[in-house]
Amino acid sequence: MQDENKDAWIANLLHRIERLEQRFTAFEERDRIFEKAFRVIGLHTNYAEFGAYKGHSMISAYYSAKKICDELLGGDWNHAFTNPDETASVVINHWKQMRFFAFDSFQGMPATSGPDKEMEIFKEGTYRCGSEEFFCNIRKYGVPENKVVAFPGFFSQSCTAQNVSPHNFGNVGILHIDCDLYESAKTALDFMTSYCVVTPSSYSTSGISFLATPTTANKEPSQNGVPPILSGPLPSFKRGRPSACRLSSPSVNSSR
Ligand SMILES: C[S@@+](CC[C@H](N)C(=O)[O-])C[C@H]1O[C@@H](n2cnc3c(N)ncnc32)[C@H](O)[C@@H]1O
Repeated sequence: MQDENKDAWIANLLHRIERLEQRFTAFEERDRIFEKAFRVIGLHTNYAEFGAYKGHSMISAYYSAKKICDELLGGDWNHAFTNPDETASVVINHWKQMRFFAFDSFQGMPATSGPDKEMEIFKEGTYRCGSEEFFCNIRKYGVPENKVVAFPGFFSQSCTAQNVSPHNFGNVGILHIDCDLYESAKTALDFMTSYCVVTPSSYSTSGISFLATPTTANKEPSQNGVPPILSGPLPSFKRGRPSACRLSSPSVNSSR
């Protein structure tokens, strides 16, 4: 390779490394945001995401919640399950009930209209990830499938009480909207305002997150032993190692 080609090759490589670093920083930031959100909201509500795509934000949300659960159970789930004290019983009960709701067309972006027409990069069908691949990723990263309930379809069709109510949808404490288009985000927000009062909590390259006060909230966590806010520095985040996974039939709308 000639010297100038070598220089260009190295410059290109450095540029790619820099971009990778930026992506990792954005992902770490997303993990921290979710963790903070769960510390504020507690573990007694559900998580809902609009624009679930390949599941990466949802996986991050799951591990952020699980990490707080680990801390509350002293890191020893077996002991907590066999000899639960009062706090452990509440935590286990909340954790068992917690669900992660995934809304996506699983066919990519819808046809755009209005202000979204200008968004050249989000043309109809881009960011396509089928529900099979979504669930494959969920399994690959060790998230139990029975924690995830998927509502496939364009929001204009899937966001109806009739569609979600058979699957125990509700009690949403953290809402993550990451669907890139104005019309899509508006549909999601309009729908969710009948389930919770939403407060914007963060905006990043990974979408907008909202802390939500469910209008059908069960119990206040502070009343039954689990503090809603856990203070202290945030320890570093560790996620399960991905394991091999084969595509199999998707479990959509499953609330097992
Ligand atoms: C950028 S991706 C989301 C990334 C994802 N949150 C993650 O963590 O990797 C945007 C997603 O929004 C979905 N989407 C956008 N508008 C939609 C609509 N109106 N109905 C259903 N899905 C929509 C697309 O299918 C796509 O999967």
